[in-house]
Amino acid sequence: MSDPKPEQVGPPIALLAGLSHRCPLRCGYCSNPLELTRASAELDTDDWCRVMREAGALGVLQVHFSGGEPTVRQDLEQLIACARDCDLYTNLITSGVLLDAPRIDALYRAGLDHVQLSVQGSEGKGADLIGGYVGGHAKKLEVARLVRDRGIMLTLNAVVHRRNLHQVDALFELALTLDAHRIEIASVQYNGWARRNLAALLPTQDQLEDLTKTLEAARIRLLGRLVIDFVPPDYYAARPKPCMNGWGRQFITINPAGLVLPCHSAETIPGMTFDSVLQSPLEDIWYRGEAFSRFRGTDWMQEPCRSCEFREQDFGGCRCQALAVSGDVTATDPVCEFSQDRAKIDALIAAAVAEPDAPYLYRGGT
Ligand code: SF4
Ligand code: FES
Repeated sequence: MSDPKPEQVGPPIALLAGLSHRCPLRCGYCSNPLELTRASAELDTDDWCRVMREAGALGVLQVHFSGGEPTVRQDLEQLIACARDCDLYTNLITSGVLLDAPRIDALYRAGLDHVQLSVQGSEGKGADLIGGYVGGHAKKLEVARLVRDRGIMLTLNAVVHRRNLHQVDALFELALTLDAHRIEIASVQYNGWARRNLAALLPTQDQLEDLTKTLEAARIRLLGRLVIDFVPPDYYAARPKPCMNGWGRQFITINPAGLVLPCHSAETIPGMTFDSVLQSPLEDIWYRGEAFSRFRGTDWMQEPCRSCEFREQDFGGCRCQALAVSGDVTATDPVCEFSQDRAKIDALIAAAVAEPDAPYLYRGGT
């Protein structure tokens, strides 16, 4: 397949609205960039509402309000109402620690459809340590109850790593106790802050084998009671994940300052120009923007991806990971068994597991 023409590219399914990089938590696996956007540079309410209208017209189906912590924005209710006016399904991705009953009522009245609540572990002490926020876990349990009391759909989102993988069964029990519909067990992706914490967070092979057994048993035991989604740790895989389901195929990310990104880490790629919603319509950016066109399709690929039978299944993996590990953004994702740099991933694994007591570095603030 050659690079698709604009008219061959379908509309994006989902828009991730990164409203703010501000966050009361300090998780060391945060996917935000190392260089955070200041509050004074964030898009204002009118611009975000215009973005919602443009997204609706473009054919986007869902908007995920995210951050940082999106509830730091006092206009979140207005933004949700704007999105609903454009027939967008609204999902709030939140740590929950800034929410209380009146705010959840206001968000619900504005049209909030779904809450994706992060938890850092299954019990308070360890979870609060990972998030760097004392009392956070207890607050989240209360928020989950308030969300479900109002009939809002709830997903529990647990980022898992070496320090909490032993809690996965307890996380399933927690999800059932909180009446969540779904749980996402998401392995850390080693970009941004997480890359700095690789040695502190990368699981061991033994942990992964235990996890596979735990997941298989839970999927049978909880069938019909809890939807379980799992994002595996790709360092241990033989082939990479289709990052973002393929560059410029389904997802648009907008950062707090209004830059439109094909993935949350795209700003780490030097020499790329990202369009701003302050200067161009979303439709132009999606179909014709330089950043979205750059790795769409397969024409940009080098060997072995270029002639590989899997190239339209994984789209060559993750561009940001190729850059970070191989130093070449057009290289095959180094996780791939066919990559000439697979040995670099194996060396990173060996170095990380040889350092079981590596210090855990918290994310810095804005
Ligand atoms: Fe995917 Fe490229 Fe590896 Fe083939 S060579 S499996 S396309 S990453
Ligand atoms: Fe950027 Fe995967 S995180 S392409």
